[in-house]
Amino acid sequence: MELVIQPDAERAAWLVASLVAKALRQKPHLVLGLATGRTMEQVYRQLVRMHRDEGLDFSLCRTFNLDEYIGLRTDHPGSYRYYMDHHFFNHINIDSRNTFLPDGMATNLQAACRRYEETILEFGGIDLQLLGIGADGHIGFNEPLSALYSRTRDKALTPSTIAVNSTLFKHPGEMPKRAITMGVGTILDARTIILLVSGKAKAEILAKAVEGPITAMVSASALQLHSKCRVVVDEDAAVKLQAQDYYRWIFENEPDWEEFRNAPPSPEVLPL
Ligand code: GLP
Repeated sequence: MELVIQPDAERAAWLVASLVAKALRQKPHLVLGLATGRTMEQVYRQLVRMHRDEGLDFSLCRTFNLDEYIGLRTDHPGSYRYYMDHHFFNHINIDSRNTFLPDGMATNLQAACRRYEETILEFGGIDLQLLGIGADGHIGFNEPLSALYSRTRDKALTPSTIAVNSTLFKHPGEMPKRAITMGVGTILDARTIILLVSGKAKAEILAKAVEGPITAMVSASALQLHSKCRVVVDEDAAVKLQAQDYYRWIFENEPDWEEFRNAPPSPEVLPL
């Protein structure tokens, strides 16, 4: 695991978008794992800007989202399909047939979960998985005690996740209490992983996830097992980390980060 600290949330999102853009330019058929949530919105804005201004080409890219609510139609504004179309897919040149999310409306959820895993494998597995982190340490919707080897499955959400995420619904009571999520094991199968964390509210759970013990109580701590996982955080999220000096030194000195050190002073964010 390698962690770098950026001055603010905008710069952190710009860095993550730049890493995605680099991977896509190197491999136009990239299989990209995607996440939702407020943190990711800025990454998608940056990628949309890169598509518009720099010709970043998504025409051959395939995407798999981490999760989807159970029982919401795809045209419901609270669904993750709607989120992805609204924040990202509608603004880039991706073929919608190449964008996959779990089917939260399936009558047979177990079969839909198995099929999702099979489809990921048919496309050769995920090259780069983007992740955010929930307040309880979840990645995807892998709530506390999710097995570290778990696969895509339907999962009950915790009351705290329901409280946090229902604020994104026009009518909070409409938020489903269950979701389909890739498992922790599915996520760990990705060839590379980038976790983006910003804001003071995430400082404590970030420290637990990256510097604490590996435990099923904090699903994100399983990322410590992955050999190619990068964690990009802003100053606010970094405040509880023990080895901040080392993480800063890495970004300033390691050759891999050189091309990203002279970021535009204020990475432009497009309103959508
Ligand atoms: C949801 C998603 C997660 C995401 C989390 C964080 O719960 N299922 O994949 O990481 O939100 O969201 P935010 O960035 O809004 O804090």
